[in-house]
Amino acid sequence: MSSQNEESQAQASTDSLSTPCQTPKGVHDILPDDHDYYTFIKKVIRHRARQAGYRRISTPIFEYTDIFARSLGGATDIVEKEMYTFLDKKGRSLTLKPEGTAGVARAYIQHNMSQLAQPVGLYYIEPHFRYDRPQKGRYRQFWQFGFEVMGELDPCIDAQVISLANKINEDLGIAQLFDIQLNTIGSQEDRQKYTQALKDYYYGKERSLCEHCKSRLEQNPMRLLDCKNEDCQILAELAPKMAGYLSKESIEYYEDVKEYLAELGIKFTENPKLVRGLDYYTNTVFEFWDAKEGAQNAIGGGGRYDGLIEQMGGPSTPAVGYAAGIERIIAHMKREKIRVPSKDQIHVFVAQLGKESRKKCLGLIEEMREAGLKTIGALGKGSMKAQLKLADKFDAPYTLILGITEVREGTIIIRDMRHGSQEIVKFDQVIDELISKIGEENLDKYSPGELIY
Ligand code: HAM
Repeated sequence: MSSQNEESQAQASTDSLSTPCQTPKGVHDILPDDHDYYTFIKKVIRHRARQAGYRRISTPIFEYTDIFARSLGGATDIVEKEMYTFLDKKGRSLTLKPEGTAGVARAYIQHNMSQLAQPVGLYYIEPHFRYDRPQKGRYRQFWQFGFEVMGELDPCIDAQVISLANKINEDLGIAQLFDIQLNTIGSQEDRQKYTQALKDYYYGKERSLCEHCKSRLEQNPMRLLDCKNEDCQILAELAPKMAGYLSKESIEYYEDVKEYLAELGIKFTENPKLVRGLDYYTNTVFEFWDAKEGAQNAIGGGGRYDGLIEQMGGPSTPAVGYAAGIERIIAHMKREKIRVPSKDQIHVFVAQLGKESRKKCLGLIEEMREAGLKTIGALGKGSMKAQLKLADKFDAPYTLILGITEVREGTIIIRDMRHGSQEIVKFDQVIDELISKIGEENLDKYSPGELIY
């Protein structure tokens, strides 16, 4: 063995000793039972997105770090401390995507989407990564779905995005658990004026601020308004209000958004302190707050980001979007005891004895699956007793039994596992018999769809 090889073997064996056989902190497996929820939720998202003319996009899991650093804002929690950043072998700085908007904006620019019919509506369902402090509803890898509408400035679209988010929550049976918090943070110019006013207000009061707010005052004073520290909250109460710095256009825009939301029958709470944790927003911002726990357990949020695409080097393009965390949605569904159908329950277990039977079962299993019967079979050499035990463990409602006698006679036994009864049927008719027992409507028929050549 070469010494290099020995070295790597030694390394591997220490690694296996020191690394516990479990997921890293803050990440989790999605086991089959939970996948039922993911499958259901993704179906709702896809369906609602298609109805509203959105098309799906997947951006890479990692981007150049600059894509996030420039767009989300240097003084945001994500950029300051939550990004998974690494150098590749050529020393380029890359970051696992902590959110979806920046990557989609990058794709809009890179693929000249401004040349398409506007607005361009895109949606995504993807894993995202934040080096967050793991706790309930806060993970280091989590699934987020989001919608982005790029290329049009119209308060109707803001209202429609909020409505779409709400509709998805309705479909999932959890809409009533959330308060929609709404605010406007004005145009970029309004924000500049307001930011300056905030700085002027806080200058001289730094000693009363928490360390985090002190460090954010220069770059991101609006974040001081939603700090949870008691002293910071007292100061925030007395701080200048955004409303005093909004231009006439921004006020009108906000009034229109509210009017359209009312038209759509969507209830919301105005929250002048809502600023969102990312720097790219302008005008409308909103969050879906847990009615019981408030901001802490927000399920989703979004807003308008009219300056982002231009700031990233693209054409001046207004845009608005929303994203929500799927793990948090599932937690709420479970809390409400909402279950989703599982499509995994098998219909039939096939047990057999003898080589001839095994061969016949191979073909039969394929045929049953084609017919939409979810089928598994023990094609090994276990005893009949062992195979029936296995069928029980899989909770199959029916087991087929094929032995040497049945092969010779051209029959097969159907065993009803719930009642323990058995019947002998003709081998050629067994699929029809099973379908009539299980019901056409319960079959899992699959057709790959029509290919277009
Ligand atoms: P965000 O508020 O940072 O917004 O994230 C949206 C949602 O993702 C949160 O409300 C939460 O449900 C979920 N989420 C965030 N971090 C975690 C975590 N560590 N663990 C579990 N779930 C989490 C955005 O990301 C914006 N890009 C939304 C947007 C789209 N704005 C415009 N377009």
